Amino acid sequence: MTIYLNGEWLAIEKATISVLDRGFIFGDGVYEVIPVYSRRPFRLKEHLQRLQHSLDGIRLSNPHSTAEWISLIDSLIDKNTGEDQYLYLHITRGAARRDHPFPNPPVPPTVFVMSSPLPLPSADLIKNGTSAMTAQDNRWMHCDIKAISLLPNVLLRQIAVDAGCAETILLRAESVSAAFDPATAFLTEGAASNIFVIKNGVLLAPPKDHLMLPGITYDVILEIASRHDIPHQVRKIAASELFHADELLLSSSTREVQAITRLDGRSVGSGVPGAMFLQINQYYQEFKQNVMRAL
Ligand code: PDD
Repeated sequence: MTIYLNGEWLAIEKATISVLDRGFIFGDGVYEVIPVYSRRPFRLKEHLQRLQHSLDGIRLSNPHSTAEWISLIDSLIDKNTGEDQYLYLHITRGAARRDHPFPNPPVPPTVFVMSSPLPLPSADLIKNGTSAMTAQDNRWMHCDIKAISLLPNVLLRQIAVDAGCAETILLRAESVSAAFDPATAFLTEGAASNIFVIKNGVLLAPPKDHLMLPGITYDVILEIASRHDIPHQVRKIAASELFHADELLLSSSTREVQAITRLDGRSVGSGVPGAMFLQINQYYQEFKQNVMRAL
């Protein structure tokens, strides 16, 4: 696998960074994940805009112009095999003597870009759906920044794996307190995905704000809903609505759209992927075939 690190193309085994890199020491950096279909990056402009938003959020200058990013990404796709890939872009504040404030004067940022194979959701997953559990969203107040400091997300995702589930759905309390009451909490997103609730034929999505990552796949699903006259609302979703959903969906660049058929050990709706999932996934697959693969 050929990767890009600070101006060089290298085999991943040969790529090294300083132990003083602020990404390593402080998690001081941001990242992006971009799916590639038929060797074409999907929604590159939108991913690069979100990257800029993340960089602005941590007050780090963008090391590359849009044209430079596009050429770097085209080269990365060329240098790697596989029709479908996912690209990982990672930028840190660089290597400097360990001290919390930004290095002054600034040091060159670390820029790392790699490609991995993009697997399709399995036939079993499409047929039977996946399982999730809920937990308190104990992350910071800037979840719209795609920060590499993912320790809360890592711990939250691991409790799902420990419980035999694929994802943790995060519930934020109205006010910060040690005693978490799911009854008064609201849905933000998954530990590494966005979440949709379906009730009485209406697709509900939480609003894009500072408490969730503005997902590119989330946008695609809402666009599909608009285009095909699927009733949908973007609004705050109470935890009780999540627990009484007819269907639940998750979305991400690497997982597409998936039905969540078990939540906290109980069936969601009838316990199999429902009509809304089947319809949205059909439109999503058509969109992938006709648009994403033909950009
Ligand atoms: N994560 N919310 C969180 C917390 C995420 O980490 C992700 C994706 C999403 C979905 O965003 P998008 O549709 O743009 O992929 C929502 C990526 C895939 C990751 O960290 O690997």
